[in-house]
Amino acid sequence: MYGRAWGKLILCGEHAVVYGYPAMASAVDRGLEVALSPVEGPTRLVGGIADASLRMAMELALPEYGVAMRISSTIPQGRGMGSSAALSVAMVRAAIAWQGDCLPEASLVFRRSLALERVFHGNPSGVDNTVAMSGALVYFKKGDAGMARSITPDGPIPLVVLDTGLYSDTAAMVAAVKERASSSAHIFRRMGQLVDLAVGSLHDHAALGGIFDENHSLLQALGVSAPELDELVALARASGALGAKLSGSGGGGVVIALAPEPAGRRLLRRAMARGINAFTVSQPTTPQPVGLPD
Ligand code: PMV
Repeated sequence: MYGRAWGKLILCGEHAVVYGYPAMASAVDRGLEVALSPVEGPTRLVGGIADASLRMAMELALPEYGVAMRISSTIPQGRGMGSSAALSVAMVRAAIAWQGDCLPEASLVFRRSLALERVFHGNPSGVDNTVAMSGALVYFKKGDAGMARSITPDGPIPLVVLDTGLYSDTAAMVAAVKERASSSAHIFRRMGQLVDLAVGSLHDHAALGGIFDENHSLLQALGVSAPELDELVALARASGALGAKLSGSGGGGVVIALAPEPAGRRLLRRAMARGINAFTVSQPTTPQPVGLPD
């Protein structure tokens, strides 16, 4: 039995999304697969070592005995590219298939995968899970009046990803922002406005780049950037990118640069010459309908 899910990048609105403001995130052409097969004895991970969080997630998602789980992934781990959300969604899908239910409601997969994601990240907004499930470009808002809808851009969004090589600890970053949340309302509000502007600027890469830049400044003001992230943002801009920002919870992880050609190739060349792991991503071509969270 298999369960699959997409990797993702947050284009705009991370952290503010935890406080009920919208975010825009895109699935990328990287993914994760969970394969389940029968085994004698207790359920276990094969081909890897389960840390405490993964052990707990497996206890929640899978029967206690008789299942061997194997994970294959092309999503970098701990870089803000949605590997834990993809793992949560893929595990839930595989577990549902294991029980013999073949067409689960999207809202069921969302609810169960969010419960698993809480094991990894404490208090996730749900944006990562929504994108991991759908493979789409998504406008997302959490909460009672929450909503998720897929957006069809006019054309590809030319993104280059630059990896700091540093672990991005989502739970720690979200907790740190929580301590400053009451004095950061104006930052969250502006981030929300930027998301709405970004949705209307997908065809206008110069405008979208400016939104990336302002979003990065707001994330700096929120205290979630790091010198390594700021350096990659500067490299992207100096190489001709139209805008750049950290993506995900910050502290480490990746920067995304909006870099149409020839800036994209120039940036990749310069990054590689400095030993930085840099790569392009594209949006998947076969997204699924977005499931509305309950
Ligand atoms: O897991 P990351 O690094 O992609 O961060 C998720 C985005 C946050 O807004 C920081 C947290 C959340 O749950 O939305």
